[in-house]
Amino acid sequence: MARPGWGILATGGIAHAFARDLIAEGFTVAAVGSRRLEAARSFAAEHGIPTAHGSYEELVADPAVEIVYVATPHSHHAESALLAIAAGKHVLVEKAFTLTQRDARRVADAAAEAGVVVMEAMWTRFLPHMIRVRELVRSGALGEVRTVLADHTQSLPLDPAHRLQNPELGGGALLDLGIYPVSFAVDVLGLPQGIRAHAALTATGVDRQTAMILDYADGRQAVLHTALDTAGPNRAAVIGTRGYLEIERTFYAPTVATLFDERGEVVERIAPVVAQRGMQFQAAELEARVAGAEPTSLPIEETVAIMGVLDEVRRQIGVRYAPDDDA
Ligand SMILES: NC(=O)c1ccc[n+]([C@@H]2O[C@H](COP(=O)([O-])OP(=O)(O)OC[C@H]3O[C@@H](n4cnc5c(N)ncnc54)[C@H](OP(=O)(O)O)[C@@H]3O)[C@@H](O)[C@H]2O)c1
Repeated sequence: MARPGWGILATGGIAHAFARDLIAEGFTVAAVGSRRLEAARSFAAEHGIPTAHGSYEELVADPAVEIVYVATPHSHHAESALLAIAAGKHVLVEKAFTLTQRDARRVADAAAEAGVVVMEAMWTRFLPHMIRVRELVRSGALGEVRTVLADHTQSLPLDPAHRLQNPELGGGALLDLGIYPVSFAVDVLGLPQGIRAHAALTATGVDRQTAMILDYADGRQAVLHTALDTAGPNRAAVIGTRGYLEIERTFYAPTVATLFDERGEVVERIAPVVAQRGMQFQAAELEARVAGAEPTSLPIEETVAIMGVLDEVRRQIGVRYAPDDDA
């Protein structure tokens, strides 16, 4: 059976990486759309994509496109996803899914009403080492899991006009980088019962660095950190009463993880070989959902719930985006 056709919405940095991975792995990339026809044409020529559209509207209307990959800045995810859903297309939306939980709810509800699949492009969840980490955690191999530690820091552009510094484009460490440790903690421990967050902001009013503690029943905790002006270890650990898992740099991308027992002896080394950057696994998950499979991880309601965690962190650290004013 022919694979569904993908349409790439926007031509920025991650759109290139995504197109490269999908094409190398034999997916059908049918079209690309940009606000500027020239940008779409040059993207299509670079990747050998058959059709280039000079607007997002034309892209989502293309009958060869069954699934739209949204790669605009976070501030535009809801609008781009709703455009695709209104055209009857399935959608993979880059992280952070939206700016607010309210917007996430709107997108999830619109997809349900239209009978299409929508999924957050939290690619980490579908990487082979993470699948094994999840299996081990759920199997009880670590005993009772008590703690998650994770950080995501990168040295990113400090230009105040850059999307990561600009509140109008959803700038800040939390939604771009901090989403990874938060999503990982929720994957392992579930939704927290309490949230404590502390941040230092940039001159533009977004978070430069944010520390978070997620509290769970019986004193279990996730201790998480993110920053956009320094590059750190980007590692994660899951600590249980009978052992711990260490996920090496860079924990959210294809990497190596090790299971240790409580004396620090290696029990299992997880080192899958991954072709490309690793963005193809989430695309395969979405294609499977479109074909009727149940989610293997991160159903859309979990994404909506995670956006609620990010809302609460932002409330505590004083970072506001335009849609907060509609609430
Ligand atoms: N999964 C990952 O590993 C990963 C990595 C990096 C980023 N991301 C996510 O992907 C999204 C895009 O990030 P990126 O780094 O690719 O951003 P980027 O390089 O700035 O590209 C964003 C693209 O969005 C389009 N766009 C539409 N409205 C825009 C506006 N008002 N201002 C700027 N661009 C606008 C533009 O494409 P056109 O000009 O073609 O319309 C632009 O090229 C973000 O949500 C980010 O969190 C994910």
